[in-house]
Amino acid sequence: MKALVLAGGKGTRLRPLTHTSAKQLVPVANKPVLHYGLEAIRDAGITSVGIIVGDTGNEIREAIGDGSRFGIDVTYIAQEAPLGLAHCVLIARDFLADEPFVMYLGDNFLIGGITGPVKVFRQSDYDAQILLTKVTEPRFYGVAELGPGGEILSLEEKPDRPRSDLAIVGVYTFSPAIHEAVRAIAPSARGELEITDAIKWLIDHGFRVHSHLVSGYWKDTGRLQDLLECNRIVLEGLEPRILGSVDGLSEVTGRVALEPGAIVENSVIRGPAIIGACAKINGSYIGPYTSIGAGCVVENTEVEYAIVLEDSTLRGVSRLTYSLIGRNVEVTRSEGLPNTHQLMIGDHSRVQVQA
Ligand code: G1P
Repeated sequence: MKALVLAGGKGTRLRPLTHTSAKQLVPVANKPVLHYGLEAIRDAGITSVGIIVGDTGNEIREAIGDGSRFGIDVTYIAQEAPLGLAHCVLIARDFLADEPFVMYLGDNFLIGGITGPVKVFRQSDYDAQILLTKVTEPRFYGVAELGPGGEILSLEEKPDRPRSDLAIVGVYTFSPAIHEAVRAIAPSARGELEITDAIKWLIDHGFRVHSHLVSGYWKDTGRLQDLLECNRIVLEGLEPRILGSVDGLSEVTGRVALEPGAIVENSVIRGPAIIGACAKINGSYIGPYTSIGAGCVVENTEVEYAIVLEDSTLRGVSRLTYSLIGRNVEVTRSEGLPNTHQLMIGDHSRVQVQA
């Protein structure tokens, strides 16, 4: 069995971070989302992995390399334009050969991995298996309608009027029958070859398509609230470890991972939280559900329920919450009068100040 990981796309919902960075590399608990997916694939016993890349291909290649670090063997496949998920299957035809495969959307996050569903598929004679999960806003997803016996009655891609609250999760397993389906379908209204249409084609042509309900799932860590929520859940399962140094004036409680070289002085850290390698925390409060990236400096600041990427500085800021802060960012207190907010912010940023 092989895996096809989709790591193209633009990630418009996480601008401005994704102006300069692939959405699949945004960190959750200081680890890029894509790493979790590759680890889940490896844990399911799959080592031959094709990664579809687009505009951000160089960055993905740099972050993942040949995959040996993850115990997998990676082949990169370039997609010249984002023409849809089914298009990715089309262009991966040679790589996939005639083996069954898992297709994994690189910005999806599934707590608990994919070992269970992959095992079910391997022991079955299904041509496709989709994972479904209940969501509050199904119109942003592919939506499945199930009959009383769990059979799939309909599949629709981002319908205006969803027939159920069961969203299609971005992890699919296919037999080689899918190749015929992706060749047969036409582009959707948004001009893409939809995998949902290809699966529908399989059903309509008498192939066996099975669905399986899962929980603990995020589409697209592409939205701030999803990303922060995902970060919260992962931090809740964090292995506490203090590999950096904590002085006698500081208090560290709860699940806290302090990476090597990190220094905590005169501060309160209340987990679950992770502080990256060589970060310096001084005179500050780091509250629950916070990930501070490697090399960050946090001084005289209070921050919680936030993700701060590498090498950023927070100085004299109280109090920061519900935030995602990029790399090499400076957030500091403005001194003196007039008492104003002074901003230099990139395109598509969002700032909420207390008036
Ligand atoms: C894609 C699929 C959709 C699925 C979703 C899961 O949507 O087309 O059916 O529910 O992934 O992430 P998109 O990536 O276009 O938002």
